Amino acid sequence: MENLIYLDNAATTFPKPEKVHDAVYNFYRKNGVNPGRTGCDLALNAEQMIQKTRKKYSQFFNKSLYDQGKSKDHNRLIFTMNATMGLNFIINGVVRSERQDHIVTTKLEHNSVIRPVNHKVREGASATFVVPDSEGYIDPMEIKRAINSKTKLVIMNHASNVSGVVQDITSIGKICREHGVVFAVDSAQTAGVLPLDMQESNIDFLCFTGHKGLFAPTGTGGICVADHASLLPTLVGGTGVKSADPYHLEEFPYCMEAGTLNLAGIAGLSAGLDFIQEEGMDHLYAHEMQLFSKLQEGLLKIKGVKIWGTTRIDLAQKRRVATLSASVEGYDASDVGTILDVEYGIQTRTGLHCAPLIHDHYGSAPRGTVRFSVGPFNSEEHIEKTIRAVAEIAADRQ
Ligand SMILES: Cc1ncc(COP(=O)(O)O)c(C=O)c1O
Repeated sequence: MENLIYLDNAATTFPKPEKVHDAVYNFYRKNGVNPGRTGCDLALNAEQMIQKTRKKYSQFFNKSLYDQGKSKDHNRLIFTMNATMGLNFIINGVVRSERQDHIVTTKLEHNSVIRPVNHKVREGASATFVVPDSEGYIDPMEIKRAINSKTKLVIMNHASNVSGVVQDITSIGKICREHGVVFAVDSAQTAGVLPLDMQESNIDFLCFTGHKGLFAPTGTGGICVADHASLLPTLVGGTGVKSADPYHLEEFPYCMEAGTLNLAGIAGLSAGLDFIQEEGMDHLYAHEMQLFSKLQEGLLKIKGVKIWGTTRIDLAQKRRVATLSASVEGYDASDVGTILDVEYGIQTRTGLHCAPLIHDHYGSAPRGTVRFSVGPFNSEEHIEKTIRAVAEIAADRQ
């Protein structure tokens, strides 16, 4: 465990900051009760912690608005269990199959978008999966071309979890706004890593997961909903308030939250953002990208190693996150992953990474790739050891 080199941060960040451990532990030690309509101190504290976290994340995703001295309804920051749940809420809450709505998305998506979109299509909606260029970037003009009179939703990731490519969501958001189409962004790979601003990028629904770049425990995430945006609820049930109402409440956050929230997880989500803001998001990103550049350079020099997608590192434009997919000639991706793990103590991830369409496009299906994803707790030594390990593995089959 001590010698583990963890390069699977795109799956979940590990380890988590001490601050996050403490917040989760202390919540349960000191305050582990259910909020809602009750006057007892512990319940009020729990409610305050939740409201503070909503506000903090609302500000984080809408910085330009707050910089102008304006504010946003922070009750429109709703908590979910993960990005998948939020993406389902958006797709099911915006798209109406019986109206034959059309959805625009991309071939780079995770199954948390592909599958709910496919279910909508099976029920009568239609969808266009926009193809990226040879480096993995989506040309905003291709999104524009895909929009038609039936298009209700453009939904796509900010960064690919396979190649680490970051899309130009600001240009795409502008196109969506001009066409009156709802724009939803899956920030699973970028929230906490790169700046995201709902105003600047005209984002109607910003979906995030807690356990990756935000360093929170699993089972956390949410959607930040623009003040003008609306969607139908998917989950209905108890809200802790207005219990006599026979139907679910229509106001935020209740309309999107039913049942008891993951309170300790939300305490961790709050601490995760504190950690990022104390360390500096730019500083964390620069560290990751410096190690990532070294890793990519090292891998590219090894005979028999192929990197899928772009190998450009354009720090100035922030068009990459610290994730790449590779294969080694003569090996199945899964075998490389196993050798790295068992013989070298290096943890990567192999296969299709829940994003099958991009592997079809690259030609890396059905076996997939070995994914290396660098995190803030990696070091130069980790990267050097990894390059040496891959070189030895590749040399065995040359
Ligand atoms: C781009 C992308 N979207 C969505 C998800 C789903 O995230 P979660 O498993 O937290 O729901 C992931 C997870 O890897 C992802 O990488």
